[in-house]
Amino acid sequence: MKILLFFALMLSSYAFAQSGHDHQNKTQSSGDHHSEMHGGDHHGGGMHGGHHKLDKATLKHFFEPLPDSIIDETKNAALIKLGKKLYLDPRLSVNDQIACNSCHRLDNFGVDSQATSPGHEGKRGGRNSPTSFNAALHIAQFWDGRAKDVEEQALGPILNPIEMGMPTEAAVVDKLKKIDEYKALFAEAFKDEKDPLQYKNIGKAIGAFERTLLTPSRFDDFLKGDEKALNDAEKRGLQKFVNMGCANCHNGVAIGGNSYKKIGLVEPYETKDMGRFAVTGLETDKKVFKVPSLRNIAKTAPYFHDGSVATLDEAIREMAEHQLGREVGPGFVDDVKAFLGSLTGKLKE
Ligand code: HEC
Ligand code: HEC
Repeated sequence: MKILLFFALMLSSYAFAQSGHDHQNKTQSSGDHHSEMHGGDHHGGGMHGGHHKLDKATLKHFFEPLPDSIIDETKNAALIKLGKKLYLDPRLSVNDQIACNSCHRLDNFGVDSQATSPGHEGKRGGRNSPTSFNAALHIAQFWDGRAKDVEEQALGPILNPIEMGMPTEAAVVDKLKKIDEYKALFAEAFKDEKDPLQYKNIGKAIGAFERTLLTPSRFDDFLKGDEKALNDAEKRGLQKFVNMGCANCHNGVAIGGNSYKKIGLVEPYETKDMGRFAVTGLETDKKVFKVPSLRNIAKTAPYFHDGSVATLDEAIREMAEHQLGREVGPGFVDDVKAFLGSLTGKLKE
């Protein structure tokens, strides 16, 4: 068991190092996980000398504050305005009932708080709606990464028979062409194009809007140097999150969203969903999912690809068990949950 666990952790640190992040502390941090695993009492290895305190280099190794913006909002104002209107508009669905916003509510941290989401006929797919907030930062879209970016992703649900149920691209374009306001908005957003109201431009506009959905949080203030931005429990939780190995997978600017990992890496996890296997056809991709971003995680229950985990406490315990082979007590869960709460942010006005 220990050997397996060690191997799994080495693999995940290796994968992290591969993911292109600044990893000046690579050997040091895998050393920490190593001592963490065998020592158990957190004292043996110590995080870089300091007793329990995470130093700046360690933080920088794992995390990055949100940028102020990832799209020029002035230059793209017309495009973003169109995208927002489309995002909120149920007329993009076959029966005028379902908008992107039905499943990814702007007033509810980009989710619908349901395990799986009802589409235009009330039918549900097998997966939980992930938040659209900060999604533009991910390496790819969907739990299995099958769309390369938010622009491509946005074109899927409109034609998905369970979700918005429009029959064809042409039907969507015809429908929008009958709405004068859209003719004007598309013309403004795609000034240089002869035929601005095209299907792919719907994706460009919605994607541009989604690029504005960043939610800076207290953790970003902390990463930028404001030591008081986190309270003691949150700081303890952050440290446990790093020391236990959570940050091997949930790291970077979105605290996740930048790699694919197997659910049940150490202790097998029961699920029929084969995740990325459906995209790549590789045996090794069975039960592999995009590591979710943990930004706003306290607000986006239920959890996991199938929405089967109701509470954040349970999600933390299951992660420790299945991804790291560790049983954790209430002290760990409470502190890590406190830290995760500091990732709750706000959309800019
Ligand atoms: C009926 C509910 C529903 C509707 C309507 C819907 N989505 Fe989703 N969305 C989902 C589900 C479920 C997933 C995850 C599916 C998967 O991974 O296979 C998802 C995935 C996403 C993701 C990927 C996020 C990530 O972390 O990978 C984005 C972004 C997104 N949707 C945006 C949109 C946009 C934009 C629209 C409107 C054009 C839309 N959705 C319409 C349910 C919905
Ligand atoms: C080996 C990589 C890995 C490690 C280590 C890891 N996670 Fe995860 N985490 C994942 C993956 C992959 C998922 C998605 C699982 C799924 O839905 O099937 C996930 C999902 C989650 C979720 C639910 C997210 C959502 O939107 O539903 C939470 C919360 C979470 N992890 C927290 C943690 C914590 C806390 C730790 C440390 C105790 C941890 N993770 C360790 C890879 C990892």
